Amino acid sequence: MISRISKQAFARRRRTLMDAIGRESVAILFSAPMQIRSRDVDYKYRQDSDFYYLTGFKEPEAIMVLSPGREEGEFVLFCRERDRSKEIWDGIRAGTEGAVATYNADEALPIASADQQLPSLLKGKRRVYYAIGRDAACDQRVIGWGNAVKVEMRNGINPPAEWVAIDTLLHDQRLRKCDEEQAVMREVAEISAQAHVRAMEFCRPGLHEYQLEAEYLHEFYRYGCQYSAYPSIVGGGKNGCILHYIENSDELKAGDLVLVDAGGELDGYAADITRTFPVSGRFSEEQKLLYELVLAAQLAAMKQVKPGNHWNQPHEAAVKEITEGLVVLGLLEGEPKDLIDEGAYRAFYMHKTGHWLGLDVHDVGRYKIGDRWQTFELGMVLTVEPGIYVSHDCDSVDEKWRGIGIRIEDNLLVTADGHEVLTAKVPKSIEDIEALMGASSTL
Ligand code: GLY
Ligand code: MN
Ligand code: MN
Repeated sequence: MISRISKQAFARRRRTLMDAIGRESVAILFSAPMQIRSRDVDYKYRQDSDFYYLTGFKEPEAIMVLSPGREEGEFVLFCRERDRSKEIWDGIRAGTEGAVATYNADEALPIASADQQLPSLLKGKRRVYYAIGRDAACDQRVIGWGNAVKVEMRNGINPPAEWVAIDTLLHDQRLRKCDEEQAVMREVAEISAQAHVRAMEFCRPGLHEYQLEAEYLHEFYRYGCQYSAYPSIVGGGKNGCILHYIENSDELKAGDLVLVDAGGELDGYAADITRTFPVSGRFSEEQKLLYELVLAAQLAAMKQVKPGNHWNQPHEAAVKEITEGLVVLGLLEGEPKDLIDEGAYRAFYMHKTGHWLGLDVHDVGRYKIGDRWQTFELGMVLTVEPGIYVSHDCDSVDEKWRGIGIRIEDNLLVTADGHEVLTAKVPKSIEDIEALMGASSTL
């Protein structure tokens, strides 16, 4: 098995893209580069999401070319050749034989021959679809391949005339998840949800944030995730107000909340879950009031996720709920409508209510098309993640609120009925969290 995604699904993706670009065009995609971590040691390799989406191929040093209607084969994969001495150190390679047999390439060629072969694949093509501007060295190579065709103009062979950014076309395709992708996203969401349950059960004062993080990693890898989808955020007390806090080095203290934003990655697909819970298992009065407000905002936002509604409706619902609630609690003063218009709520809620989710945690796909928000359609997956963050030095509010940071984040799949919450198995009501943590602390 190359992935939980079938070979047929990868083939369908290539077909859809090739039908969209047409026979006058060619698409070129590069694998992700390797990155040095320290001297001889590289970062664990992760394939470029676009490249993986179309091939399932996880090796570095590869280029794919899609040439609709090409008689010798439409899907050409350049990759590393088999090499026994290298494979002893770094693992088995597919090689050109494997590229055909396992990855269904119509033609596979050694990566070392790419600069020599690519110009001939551009001959007679009017348009080149390519991720323009993502990597300067790749840009240079692609332009060089186009220029190499120019020398044949006197023989009647014209070079490509148009260079088109592939992103919009390919990323609109990635935005709508097929049944197989939905199944993988359900699985990674459930593994990640289980990790949050485990951490709630394990949490107690005196632990360090990194020890709680270890519980998540244990659960991700135990169930087959290949990576954490992003560096886990484990912020106790005021650290919960730092949106991308990843040091995870402080001690967890009784009386504080801990905000954890962590999700696994399974066969390329990410989960992205946040829960905020009391280190010692019981919320204080102030924590409860702010938590109830974030939860109400999240539920109001989630209600807006259904086919036909537009991208910004969940955010608008969350902002309304949070602003009104902050006025009731006395953290903001004034008319909620004016406070929303002025953006006063941003002192406590400074990010948007979600993002697309898929192969990338902040997945591709447009949020606006022209001047209209994208409408929700079946198969789209997104996060809904409002929060309230009262920094420790916020002197415009009573001291009792300071240093409380809360976010609640779930992953939603848009369905005909509205949506399915892929991450529903992690408790999020105060009663359910206290019951789970209370039960585990008496064990
Ligand atoms: N984990 C990053 C985010 O929630 O967007
Ligand atoms: Mn998150
Ligand atoms: Mn998120």
